[in-house]
Amino acid sequence: MVITHAPAKVIIIGEHFVVHGQPALAAAVSLYSRTTVDAGITGTIKISSPNLGVTDMFPAKQSDDTDLSTSARSLLEPLRRVVMAVLKRAARTDEGLVVEITSSIPVGVGLGSSAATAVSTAFAVARFLDLRIDRSEICELASVQEQIVHKKPSGIDSTTATRGGVILFKVGDSPVSLPQRNQFNIIVGNTGKERSTGDLVSAVTRRVEVGDKDLARISKAAGMLTCEAVRAYEKGDFHRLGKLMDANHELLVKIGVSNPQLDNLVKVAKSAGALGAKLTGAGGGGCMIALSRPEDSKKIAEAIANAGAKPYLVGIDWSGVRELSQ
Ligand code: PMV
Repeated sequence: MVITHAPAKVIIIGEHFVVHGQPALAAAVSLYSRTTVDAGITGTIKISSPNLGVTDMFPAKQSDDTDLSTSARSLLEPLRRVVMAVLKRAARTDEGLVVEITSSIPVGVGLGSSAATAVSTAFAVARFLDLRIDRSEICELASVQEQIVHKKPSGIDSTTATRGGVILFKVGDSPVSLPQRNQFNIIVGNTGKERSTGDLVSAVTRRVEVGDKDLARISKAAGMLTCEAVRAYEKGDFHRLGKLMDANHELLVKIGVSNPQLDNLVKVAKSAGALGAKLTGAGGGGCMIALSRPEDSKKIAEAIANAGAKPYLVGIDWSGVRELSQ
């Protein structure tokens, strides 16, 4: 049996704009999706997710043209494809596997739960088969599911879940892991409102495709904020980083992906002492994050709870996907 886990992520600066070529800064955080892989009946893949309340059994050689819209299996289909991609890569499609997912990452709220699950599962299956591949290949194999779930993903979620730490990410460039810094905390505020990343990303993409000049200008400004945020982070200037996050939230408001609840949580977190706060992920509900000095974190978490969201005081995960001892 093999057990692995991969972390959730928050985007510190640059969501949405990253899909359209701008750099973004993300961090892996200490909420995890865990995968257990064991031997099963030859030629079958059994996948279960007790959190989602679904279990299903697939023939290992099932083709990729399953109709996702009509299948009760649609929830597990993206994961089946990840498992299949690894089996194919190992030339072991006759294998029988039992795959179980358990996760502490809330689903559909911008914390990269599906990417963490895919990365953890790709790694678990590779380890089970004794397939020696590097992290970038794990990330690539895991990405087959993001393409189904998110339609046009930038890849930032799976990259962060794979590598861990704080990552500077730009489509087409090699991701850069920034040095470890420990003088700050992140508090996540979950509105509990699930939404579709794919739909929100598509709405912004349509504006890009019709050549919306405002959007192009805002997108460029967001890219500049990311570059400045990297410098602030490297210098350990978290006051500056907070201000840049505030500015990024304003840009996300301008492109219409925030909502009144997120805006209120941002305001409340800052009144409680946050150095900066913004929505994180695709927006439209989901989560916000606050950057804080360690001594202010509890107060900020309380303020977020009092404003009606669920706070998570998270640490940075510096390891990324890894195997756990049994
Ligand atoms: O899946 P979410 O909600 O964490 O959003 C991911 C970040 C986006 O920039 C909105 C999409 C992407 O693929 O980069």
